[in-house]
Amino acid sequence: PRPLRVALLGCGVVGTQVAKTLLYDQEDLSARVGAPLEIAGIAVRNVDAPRDIAIPRDLLTEDAEALVDQADVVVELMGGLEPARSLLLRAIDGGAAVVTANKALLADDGPSLYEAADAAGVDIHGEAAVAGAIPIVRPLRESLAGDDITRVLGIVNGTTNYVLDQMSSHGLELDVAVKQAQELGYAEADPTADVEGYDAAAKAAILASLAFHTRVRMKDVACEGISGVTAEDVEWADRTGYCVKLLAIAERTSEGVSARVHPALVPKDHPLANVRGAFNAVFVEADAAGPLMFYGQGAGGRPTSSAVLGDIVSAGRHRVLGGKGPQESTYAALPVLPQDAA
Ligand code: HSE
Repeated sequence: PRPLRVALLGCGVVGTQVAKTLLYDQEDLSARVGAPLEIAGIAVRNVDAPRDIAIPRDLLTEDAEALVDQADVVVELMGGLEPARSLLLRAIDGGAAVVTANKALLADDGPSLYEAADAAGVDIHGEAAVAGAIPIVRPLRESLAGDDITRVLGIVNGTTNYVLDQMSSHGLELDVAVKQAQELGYAEADPTADVEGYDAAAKAAILASLAFHTRVRMKDVACEGISGVTAEDVEWADRTGYCVKLLAIAERTSEGVSARVHPALVPKDHPLANVRGAFNAVFVEADAAGPLMFYGQGAGGRPTSSAVLGDIVSAGRHRVLGGKGPQESTYAALPVLPQDAA
């Protein structure tokens, strides 16, 4: 079979890990795909910037558009809305399969991307956009597509979980624990996105859209972060048999779908109470399946690269078989409840 040409857009923490595997360790992946995987190029802002790994100079380019045009699979790891959105739409129009870890973009405009992909008959994969290494996008989109999900409860921001954990186990103040999370590399570039719940809200929108086959955007998610949580709150919760957790909650109610993010008291015997440090977990309740728990590392280059590489293999397999990948369902007419009704 002819090689599959993979274009990487972005070479940050996750991109570097993905590039490393594709450059130096791609034999097993190629065997799993059924065709040789080849890096077509890596689009970066500055080809002369120092890199953590040795990347052949001729693979680096600042012309992302030209790179997109020669790829079978386009992997977007740049983040942010633009130029990521335009590049992905260009890839889709050109018939490439698309892999993205871009939670902001999927939460803002996922449905349009999915529609464009469906119309063009190509795949779009976003496993890495929510909860890093944890397989949760595919389970919601595919494995549970025959069931009726009633509720999704997620610890989907490692930074705030780490911070609440440190406040609880060591009595630390919030700002001290946030600094530690930054030093450990869990926090977003601007940790406000973590602390105020915006990062979790973007993930909540994606989870709610997938779980309820409807369109939930970040602006539909009611959001309260942990900046108002004090060491006393955490200590009081601990004494009375609870843990304070920042939860992303998506629910199907009789009136429609509600999605929100806020600090919550979780009883210590609930599986989510045992999610410690920067780990993530998503607890799903479905009619037939009952309760399900997905648990693992939700941030970091290597864990997140696992999800991206899985998507590349999956997209590659579909290409090799000449078939289409997972298609988005026709959206149901479930209304999304306004924030104040949540
Ligand atoms: N800042 C995020 C977190 C990174 O702490 O979970 C992963 O999206």
